[in-house]
Formats: sequence, structure tokens, C-alpha cells
Amino acid sequence: MDCIEVALGERSYLIRIGQGTLEALPEVLAGIGATGHAAIVTDSNVGPLYADRTAELVRRAGMASVVCTLPAGEEHKRLARIEDLCGEFLEAGLDRGSLVIALGGGVVGDVAGFAAASFMRGIRYVQIPTTIVAQVDSSVGGKTAVNHPLGKNIIGAFHQPSAVLIDMKLLETLPDRELRAGLAEAIKHGVIADAELFRYMEESAAAILAKDLTALEYPVRRSCEIKAAIVAEDERERGLRANLNYGHTFGHAIEAVTHYEKFLHGEAVALGMCAAASLGEALGLVGADFAARQNACLTAYGLPVSWPELPVGEALEAARRDKKVRSGAMKFIVPVDMGRVVQRTDVTETQARKAFEALRRA
Ligand SMILES: NC(=O)c1ccc[n+]([C@@H]2O[C@H](COP(=O)([O-])OP(=O)(O)OC[C@H]3O[C@@H](n4cnc5c(N)ncnc54)[C@H](O)[C@@H]3O)[C@@H](O)[C@H]2O)c1
Ligand SMILES: [Zn+2]
Repeated sequence: MDCIEVALGERSYLIRIGQGTLEALPEVLAGIGATGHAAIVTDSNVGPLYADRTAELVRRAGMASVVCTLPAGEEHKRLARIEDLCGEFLEAGLDRGSLVIALGGGVVGDVAGFAAASFMRGIRYVQIPTTIVAQVDSSVGGKTAVNHPLGKNIIGAFHQPSAVLIDMKLLETLPDRELRAGLAEAIKHGVIADAELFRYMEESAAAILAKDLTALEYPVRRSCEIKAAIVAEDERERGLRANLNYGHTFGHAIEAVTHYEKFLHGEAVALGMCAAASLGEALGLVGADFAARQNACLTAYGLPVSWPELPVGEALEAARRDKKVRSGAMKFIVPVDMGRVVQRTDVTETQARKAFEALRRA
């Protein structure tokens, strides 16, 4: 089992990664000094698979637990579910010393994390991520949130977990499309910070897509290391952390115009990465070879690199709206070399439009 530290002073915590690491949950709970009650928050797909085992392991740690099951799906990442959860926590006897265990993908992690951040002004929580997106991204870094009808992740808090437990074996039941979509975020980590990781992703597509857990472990671990280092340096996204949003300014706009229905988040990010590469080329920061290489890698994982029907005007409007809602500058993360990106706030509408347009023919 590998351990990675997220170094945040007294809020530091460990990410444990391996195969079968769920079984180490009693030691993890003992290690953070958890006692009393725990609420295991999961969803209607993951709960039937892993909640009983998790509850048994919590019991072995000498703790009482209740399982709270959210309906699966992004549409349940909303404030009403926080109120429901807090009600369940109270009924189960949770108090300020209790613990939340998020067992699921990014939706469960974000909702359970925000419930933990707000219940009695904040209780501790542990992340047990069960999707690639959650393992390589959302379970690390302490961003928790629910969506508002006017925007994604609008109501939330920074609340770091006390531990992250990544068990590769939990991926065995993950649907293929979810696996591929999550890998877009791992490829993204290669592009923004680690050319070696990108090369590994290029070379290992066959083993990874065959769900060879050993082959999958390296990108998960490297992604966590990269994210842990960035978060340790810039927890509140005042600078460096925004690099993790590579492909996301375009990607979020694509998700918005498709009402989060056509593409999974990782698929929209893959398209966004292609648009960001076109932008990099237009700005003279990378050659055409960069986009070709990135496209080939994304394609090897069955991820989309073009969308001929993309409604460019609407997508631009969505990006503008997102910027207005968040009242910041429209920030684009642009590649300069494999493993290196820069942040640009000086991108013109015409340049952004051209990058979206490139997706119609890429
Ligand atoms: N907080 C952050 O820093 C951060 C970062 C990235 C993404 N996110 C958020 O994460 C969410 C997306 O997360 P996601 O892609 O994990 O989606 P998800 O949580 O909806 O999970 C995808 C689907 O897979 C199912 N599932 C999960 N694990 C499974 C398993 N092991 N076996 C079988 N089925 C399983 C789920 O029930 C769901 O139907 C978005 O809301 C996004 O905003 C947050
Ligand atoms: Zn993402």
C-alpha cells in the first residue's frame, strides 16, 4: 500500500492507495482517532455493492454506523439532499465528534463532503472514492459543493478530509464508459504536470482499458501525487491550483449547453482539452504536433476529440455566463509543452470562438 501526504499543516492527511485497501479501514479510523458514530454516505449504485462491507469494517473499528443512500446521479447533487442527510445524521445520533464516510464517486464525495462541512458547523470525513474521477481528482483537495439551478458547484466549502482510502479493486464494477471518462482527468494531469505520466498513458491504453488494476494504479497514484503537491501549495486556488482546470473552461461550457446529458464530465473535459490545444496553437505556444499527440492519446481511450454539431454561439454564451456568475476573468489554461501549461486571462472572444469552432472539425 502506497501512502501520499497532502501537506496542509494541522489539516494534513494521508491518501492510501492499493488493491484491497478497503480492508485497512479499521486502522485508518484508529489512525485519525475516530470513535463513536459514523455515517456512511453512498449512492444507489455503490451502496448495494460495498456499503455492507464498509459498515462491517466500521464496526470492527469499534464504531456505530448508519448507511445513508442518495439516489445516484448528478441531478441529486443539490442542497435538498444536504438537508435530508443532516436529518439522517441527527436521527442516527451523530454529534460534533462524529464522522462521515463518503463511499462513492465524485457526486457522493462532493455531497457527503459538504454535508460534513456544514453539519454542526463541520465534522470530520473520510473519502473512499469508487470512480476514477473521484480517485484521481475529487476525493483529494477538499473542494466540496452542490449545484444551484444557475450554476454547477455554486454552494460549497473548502473542507479537507481526514483521510483518503483508495482501493483499486472497487473499480472492478465501474461501468466502462465511467472508467474511460475518468481517465481523461489522469491524461490531463500528464499534460499539465508530468510528460512521463502522459507517455505512460499513451503506452498503456490496452492494459488500462482491460482494467488491469496494476496498470491502472500508476496513473491513479501519480495523479494523487500531482494534485497533493498543487493543493499543498495553493489550497484555495489563488494561483497554481487553477492549472487543474485545464480543459475545464471549454468543458464546462460544453456540459452546460448539453444540460449535462450528452457527455460525462470527463468526456466534456477531453473535448475541452482539444479546444485548449487549438488555443495554444493559435497563440503560438505549441505546434500542431501537440494537438495531434493529445488527440491520439484521448482517442486511444475512446474519448471524444470532436463534436461536429457543437453549437459554438451557445457554448461561448455559456462560458461568458459562467464567468459572470463567478465574477472572475475568463481564465484559460493553455499548454506550452507536454507537462507544462500557463494561465491566460487575455484570450479574446474571437480566439475562444475559434477554439470551439476547431472542435467541429478536429
Ligand atoms: N470536488 C472536486 O474537486 C471535484 C473534482 C472533479 C469532479 N468533481 C465532481 O465529481 C462529479 C463526477 O464524479 P463521477 O464522475 O465520479 O460521477 P458519479 O459520482 O456520478 O459516478 C458515476 C456513476 O458511477 C456509479 N459508480 C460509482 N462507483 C461505482 C463502482 N465502483 N461500481 C459501479 N458503479 C459505480 C455511480 O453510482 C454513478 O452512477 C461531478 O459532480 C463533479 O463536479 C468534483
Ligand atoms: Zn474535472
